Amino acid sequence: MEHDRSGSSMQEPRRAVQSKLKDHHTNHSIKQNIIKGEIVIQNHGQSGPGKSASLQLYSSTAVDPSTGKGKMSEKAPASSMERASDMMASWVYPFQKTKSGRLFFSNNSYLPNHTPRALVQLRQLELASLRGDGTQEHARPVLGGSELHPYPCRLRTGHPPSNTEPSAESRTETINLDIYVPPDERFSPKKLSEFISNSIQATVHFIIPEAKSLFKQDSSSFESFDEIHDMFSSKGGQAVEGKVREKLKGKVREKLKKLVPNVLFKEINYAGKEDLLKFPLPQIVTENELAWGNDEEFGRQMVAGTNPARIKCLQEFPPQGRNRASTIHASHIEHNLDGLTLVQAMNEWRIFILDHHDYLMPYLSKINTKGVCAYASRTLFFLRADATMKPLAIELSLPGSSEDTEISRVFLPAKKGTEAALWQLAKAHVAANDSAYHQLISHWLHTHAVVEPFIIATRRQLSVMHPVNWLLRPHFKDTMHINALARSILVNSGGILEKTLFTGEISMELSSELYKEWRFDEQALPADLVKRGLALEDPDNPNSPSGVQLLFDDYPYGADGLDIWHAIKTWVTDYCSLFYEDDYSVNSDVEVQAWWSEIQNAGHGDKRNEAGWYKMTTLLDLIEALTTLIWIASGLHASVNFGQYAYAGYPLNRPMLCRKFIPREGTKEFAEFLRDPDKYYLSMLPGRFQMSLCYSINRGSLNAHI
Ligand SMILES: [Fe+2]
Repeated sequence: MEHDRSGSSMQEPRRAVQSKLKDHHTNHSIKQNIIKGEIVIQNHGQSGPGKSASLQLYSSTAVDPSTGKGKMSEKAPASSMERASDMMASWVYPFQKTKSGRLFFSNNSYLPNHTPRALVQLRQLELASLRGDGTQEHARPVLGGSELHPYPCRLRTGHPPSNTEPSAESRTETINLDIYVPPDERFSPKKLSEFISNSIQATVHFIIPEAKSLFKQDSSSFESFDEIHDMFSSKGGQAVEGKVREKLKGKVREKLKKLVPNVLFKEINYAGKEDLLKFPLPQIVTENELAWGNDEEFGRQMVAGTNPARIKCLQEFPPQGRNRASTIHASHIEHNLDGLTLVQAMNEWRIFILDHHDYLMPYLSKINTKGVCAYASRTLFFLRADATMKPLAIELSLPGSSEDTEISRVFLPAKKGTEAALWQLAKAHVAANDSAYHQLISHWLHTHAVVEPFIIATRRQLSVMHPVNWLLRPHFKDTMHINALARSILVNSGGILEKTLFTGEISMELSSELYKEWRFDEQALPADLVKRGLALEDPDNPNSPSGVQLLFDDYPYGADGLDIWHAIKTWVTDYCSLFYEDDYSVNSDVEVQAWWSEIQNAGHGDKRNEAGWYKMTTLLDLIEALTTLIWIASGLHASVNFGQYAYAGYPLNRPMLCRKFIPREGTKEFAEFLRDPDKYYLSMLPGRFQMSLCYSINRGSLNAHI
């Protein structure tokens, strides 16, 4: 528990407190014997001299029958009282830590069974409060090394074991930009200085916590869509005045001096002369300011946006879940299939689904606290004749009152009126689901995290003379260092992703849950496309050199990706053929065998007994494994990395969390929504500070990097 030293200003001499309370209670006609009671201190807002602390007194003799505790006095202001540390002998904790007022007992001592009756319950409550129940902060589980929380291995840092979990390394600092990485894996000094400089925009709020207070009304909502748009224009400048901006830059430089090696500071300082808080307009709205609200654009981004590898062709209607089927009925969508029946559309593989349902449902009760309001979503699309994706329906689900029930609502597209406004709210909730999945799974887990064990094994098991080491080296460049930095500030407990994504504190636990579904062989692009129903196997067609045929061509991730895949595979095949004559030469390569064994049994040891691993007994195994690995580190990573600012940089297009549920008819919230749907929409989105983080992290090189 942290001590709030500024709270010491509330420690006043006992005599003065008693005198003050006596006067106060006399004025309010309260009996004198109440002075024999116990004092509760409540501190409203920031603590400090003269701040709004108040005292109340519980009687130790008169029991309030309605509460079972001693009768309570009215509040007395504490601002004018003198010090009372001799009586209280304790710090006053910040309210946000305890969620309750602080209770001070007088100097009388009692064994538990001699406690005055009016104080029995208070004694127990205060003990429980001081002890804590360990639930106020969600303890993050150790990831990796267990069936419950499997995870890819990472580089050791050399930190000593954690006190609370000896099998895990401790963390020495919350933010450490000079984190240990083996010298060969480090960024060049120039790259590191550029990286840190570019990341300042994204990380300024974390490096300099006091920066938060420099923003106006940081948790309040934007008043209009124009106001959000103006943040990116020359007049907006992230709602930070010029003088404040200069002050902030000074603080950033001062703090960075302590965080980074001296040798880098000069260059960082130089780069830091750029405006820290000014951002260009994201491409999504450069042509059309309202593109973010457009249904066609919403559909397009599912195949050509920043997270293009989640959408699937729907194989069965209604969509099936782990425990139950979706509540989307044929009647919701069949009028919207451009003249096709549902059966026809399904037979032509033209119904698609963006499914964020099953994996989220078990976590929603934990997620929907601290002002976050999230659903598990399923969104259906129809592939039109012109190859555009038309949204058909959105189903949003919440856990029901018992474990095996769900409460689901279905929203349908509409062009005007209340239905259209509700549809926009539903799309924002889907975008929040998809944004978190993109950041945590598509980007972090499926590229950065899963590749790290391959890099470690390559360095440990393949000589620098080994041709596979030579082949892979450029594709691994800088990955270890950026992963280490990401663990320091991006995916760490209390880090950027926890602060910005709706998944909050369970973000990494969720990525561990989805790692259970991961298979290395399914990251091969052709296998991935076939599994998601976006391509069919077509091994003998000379026009499909990658061995698969896309269902529709207007899918850049698939169409361009297969070209890149084919180029990588051709290169890997030619290269390997220079060194390996046949399967035996792969089988008898002791270094490659040790390399593969370490990847499977140690690096991805939690998945060692699962399917998805090539046997590495043939040349084809080696070629497939290397092609997949290079694809992950190049094409796949590029697809989820480089579009981030263009799409997610505009918070209206990809909100990362919502602060309100969609109101139900007949409720007070629904009336509020009807009065001004746009205002309701804006109040549902993250507050100003959080929204500014959304676009700054997508701009900063920590998240969107090279
Ligand atoms: Fe990345």
